[in-house]
Amino acid sequence: MKTIFSGIQPSGTLTLGNYLGAMKHFVELQQDHQCYFCVVDEHAITMPQDRLELRDNIRSLAALYLASGIDADKSTLFIQSEVAAHTQLGWMLQCVSYIGELERMTQFKDKAQGSNESVSSGLLTYPPLMAADILLYKTDVVPVGEDQKQHLELARNLAQRFNHKYNDIFTVPEIKVPKVGARIMSLQDPTKKMSKSDANQKAYISMLDEPKVIEKKIKSAVTDSDGIVAYDPDHKPGIANLLTIYSTAANRSIDSLVERYHNNGYGTFKQDVADAVIQLLHPIQKRYEELIHSEELDHILDDGADKAGIEANKMLRKAKKAMGLGRVHIKK
Ligand code: AMP
Ligand code: TRP
Repeated sequence: MKTIFSGIQPSGTLTLGNYLGAMKHFVELQQDHQCYFCVVDEHAITMPQDRLELRDNIRSLAALYLASGIDADKSTLFIQSEVAAHTQLGWMLQCVSYIGELERMTQFKDKAQGSNESVSSGLLTYPPLMAADILLYKTDVVPVGEDQKQHLELARNLAQRFNHKYNDIFTVPEIKVPKVGARIMSLQDPTKKMSKSDANQKAYISMLDEPKVIEKKIKSAVTDSDGIVAYDPDHKPGIANLLTIYSTAANRSIDSLVERYHNNGYGTFKQDVADAVIQLLHPIQKRYEELIHSEELDHILDDGADKAGIEANKMLRKAKKAMGLGRVHIKK
């Protein structure tokens, strides 16, 4: 059975983009893979965080994983900072990465915007920590959205470099980007991706938004004035995005939706997109409410950290040995 690892940052409530681009696929993948799902809180602190909000977001994200269908009997769900091996191997991989390659990461360039004085060095050294997350579990496949491809390429390079330089211990992971729904765009600016850190709340649908809010946001989604429902991401990015959302939310092909709504104007179309999203999120929100304040959630996370820790520490020991860290006990 192949091993899968994926992580999501607890930096705000997940959006529909996170669900359709990542979480939904995780649920499918756990049927025939050994899966590790991680709340990557140590990645979140590369940007400023309010401590109480961070705490809430960590718990909330863990509950959302489960509410979305991650099954704790099949998959290992845990919090990154509860398994110390991540930062330990992260440090070792920093010592295998070059400053130049880290500075070339688009996400770093976007977030730093040339102002090195006020940007944490963690933002620069984030990719080796992400590589550590993955490499600790002999991961074969990493399912991520389009925006994480570059970090994954780097993780593969670091694994190969380490294997070549020290000892052949790491599995070089494959990248898996979903075809439809790989990139859900902002409802207010469909040329930008839908992001939970968007300053404009109308730009994204949170997985915990109430039905009325969802309807309002989709109805006020920026489109165009053609009045024709057609899939043309270059010329009609707003409508193309709504089609992608509808198609992935309701498991219907884009072609069949275009056929159905082509000449009906945007009113009914938007209403039906909203209904599809509301229906998709309803059972998830219900389960979330049961979990969020439950002890069950704590038990699952304790268990997850124990299981992940055992695997991770085995690999950490191998990596330390390969690099010559620590010592060998004298045996008489
Ligand atoms: P993040 O919210 O940036 O921590 O991303 C968590 C996961 O969701 C990653 O695999 C992302 O690639 C994916 N993701 C985030 N935003 C979107 C989006 N708008 N469309 C598709 N996938 C996304
Ligand atoms: N960097 C990823 C993001 O921002 C989150 C992440 C951290 C991750 N470690 C990972 C994703 C390991 C996949 C595998 O979306």
